Amino acid sequence: MKKGIKIIGVAIVVILIVAVFFGLFVNFKGIPNYTPEKINYQVNSSPESIQRGKKLVLSLCANCHINRETGKLTGVRMKDAPPEFGKIYSANITQDKTYGIGDWQDGEIVYLLRTGVKKDGQYAPPYMAKLPEMADEDINAIISFLKSDDKMVLADATPDKPCEPSILTKFLCMVAFKPLPYPTEPIPMPDTTDQVKLGKYLALNFECYSCHSADFKTNNFLEPEKSEGFFGGGNKPLNMDGQIVLTSNLTPDQETGIGLWTKGQFVKAVKSGIVDGQSSLQYPMLPYVHLTDKEAEAIFAYLQTIPPIKNKVERVIY
Ligand code: HEC
Ligand code: HEC
Repeated sequence: MKKGIKIIGVAIVVILIVAVFFGLFVNFKGIPNYTPEKINYQVNSSPESIQRGKKLVLSLCANCHINRETGKLTGVRMKDAPPEFGKIYSANITQDKTYGIGDWQDGEIVYLLRTGVKKDGQYAPPYMAKLPEMADEDINAIISFLKSDDKMVLADATPDKPCEPSILTKFLCMVAFKPLPYPTEPIPMPDTTDQVKLGKYLALNFECYSCHSADFKTNNFLEPEKSEGFFGGGNKPLNMDGQIVLTSNLTPDQETGIGLWTKGQFVKAVKSGIVDGQSSLQYPMLPYVHLTDKEAEAIFAYLQTIPPIKNKVERVIY
């Protein structure tokens, strides 16, 4: 009997020692490095692509990268990143050659946006957006804007603050989060005369599904419709005070989703954050002021076609 207890005791000590060494190993090894593919890519700028790119960057990138005091994309501390991921700072993505991305080739930018692997080979964890499905033309528009003479992106020598990812983030980047494959086929723009196709493109590429499905951890970036609880809400993004703001169910379920909403109510909620008879939608649901009515209506039309999910999400108002 005593001998049995002793063996268990020794086993526990051995397991603890292994765990501590494993933790130290993960912490020391850090986020994995990959060899970025050399992509032969030259951005093709025009006034139209820059304008389109500005809209995309304002809707998809600025919230994380903008310094709200200067209006420039010089990076900030991301107060809404889950604390268990560590201390996260977004990067300076202005054209400064030392601190920004002024010395990045177009091919290096496109490779990062598609796969999540930076110029130096480091993998950017899920707190940096990835655009595996976005049409080539829209990717071109984003890079056109980043290289334009708009004052948001002109060289600004604000130094980057390095992220301090937690052991958990490092561990997840070793075992779960991996770079996405670089597309092997051209990705065309959706047919904009087909409302549902346009709406699907926007709902998936403007990351609506990423917040509005069950959980960031179970989202499927390559096949978004296979994400758990696709558009059924209940995901738990944080506001700037670190409080959870549950996401709404946007499926056509009539009781718990938006099955009984009108097109007009939806467009107003998405573009101005106003829901009739309720207090305004809160951060991180930012009004998508740059979407046209036609685009917001298309998202609505698409959402009405997806499978309804019964999932009641109670709003928490702060
Ligand atoms: C949810 C927040 C978030 C969004 C949205 C986001 N980023 Fe980032 N971005 C980050 C963070 C955080 C880093 C730093 C990652 C790291 O160092 O590992 C980063 C890094 C980068 C870098 C690398 C810069 C460098 O010097 O290493 C580029 C380029 C970039 N982002 C461009 C973009 C573009 C373009 C978009 C929009 C399509 C975008 N980001 C959207 C958070 C975000
Ligand atoms: C960063 C996460 C995030 C993204 C991205 C996001 N949402 Fe939301 N959304 C939320 C949260 C959180 C709420 C609930 C806010 C509240 O309760 O105040 C919400 C609420 C809504 C509502 C209100 C629904 C209701 O029942 O009241 C609509 C409509 C909506 N979002 C549509 C969209 C669309 C369309 C997109 C993409 C263009 C989008 N959201 C992208 C987080 C997000």
